[in-house]
Amino acid sequence: MSQAFDDANLHKIWSYYDRGESRIGYRYILGGTKHFGFYGPGQTRWAFTAAMRRMEDRLGAELALPAGSKVLDAGCGIGNVARAMADRHGLDVTGIDILDFNIAEANRRSAKAGLTKATRFHIGDYHHLPFPDSSFDGLYTMETFVHSADPKAALAEFKRVLKPGGKLVMFEYSRTRDSEVSPEANRAMRRVCDEAAMPAWLELYHGVLDEMLGAAGFAVESSVDITANMMPMASAFYLIGKFPFWVGRITRLEYKVVNAMSARMMFRYKEAWHYGIHTAVNTD
Ligand SMILES: C[S@@+](CC[C@H](N)C(=O)[O-])C[C@H]1O[C@@H](n2cnc3c(N)ncnc32)[C@H](O)[C@@H]1O
Repeated sequence: MSQAFDDANLHKIWSYYDRGESRIGYRYILGGTKHFGFYGPGQTRWAFTAAMRRMEDRLGAELALPAGSKVLDAGCGIGNVARAMADRHGLDVTGIDILDFNIAEANRRSAKAGLTKATRFHIGDYHHLPFPDSSFDGLYTMETFVHSADPKAALAEFKRVLKPGGKLVMFEYSRTRDSEVSPEANRAMRRVCDEAAMPAWLELYHGVLDEMLGAAGFAVESSVDITANMMPMASAFYLIGKFPFWVGRITRLEYKVVNAMSARMMFRYKEAWHYGIHTAVNTD
């Protein structure tokens, strides 16, 4: 059933994740999780589950918060990352996501895993968080910030709900300046951002997120480029996307295979983007 949104960007995000290709792809290829995996030297690109768990453990290590700390997962999807933080890192996690079907699935999976005390999930937009000031010791985003229509407003909200000294960790994409890549690569990036509802990615050139964090009142602690560590999975998606993308082209139904198109474009034009971990502290 269609969810109603006043905001055109949120409606576009809903359309992207509600489409059959997204639902089936994420469910059957990644078990419902929607983030890249972390690979060390020699690790096979096809072991997606192990790689995603390593990425989540990297998040836990970057948060580096004591057990029982209250943490917000902004853009939590079906809550697999939140459950990893609760189960393997001892954190008390609240997740928020705009999609009602994600939140229903997040609650169902937490109940099944016996994690309803350590995790809870709400439908909501992270540009307008339904929490009082200084509610959380930590906050993280895992591959969601590119969807933002107003990154500065979202960072202001993150700062508001974080306690003074609270930790912010963001696993997010950035983009190479237009002048440094080919016109084809720029066109491909614009197409991916448009069709997968990721307006912020267009403005998040390398280094811009850290500047925004500084302007929002965070002290950036580190900014690490881990593109090489997630590229094996991007290369696997490039191969998986080949057949559906080809079928979409010859049937003129390309608009139905946005994920296959994105997988093909992102790997083909990998010079046009990076993937990084940004850690910062609320300086209040
Ligand atoms: C790529 S998925 C990542 C999900 C989850 N973090 C994970 O790693 O599995 C991005 C998620 O962000 C959510 N999202 C996008 N914009 C949002 C917003 N303004 N407020 C809350 N959630 C949002 C989407 O609904 C989607 O579930």
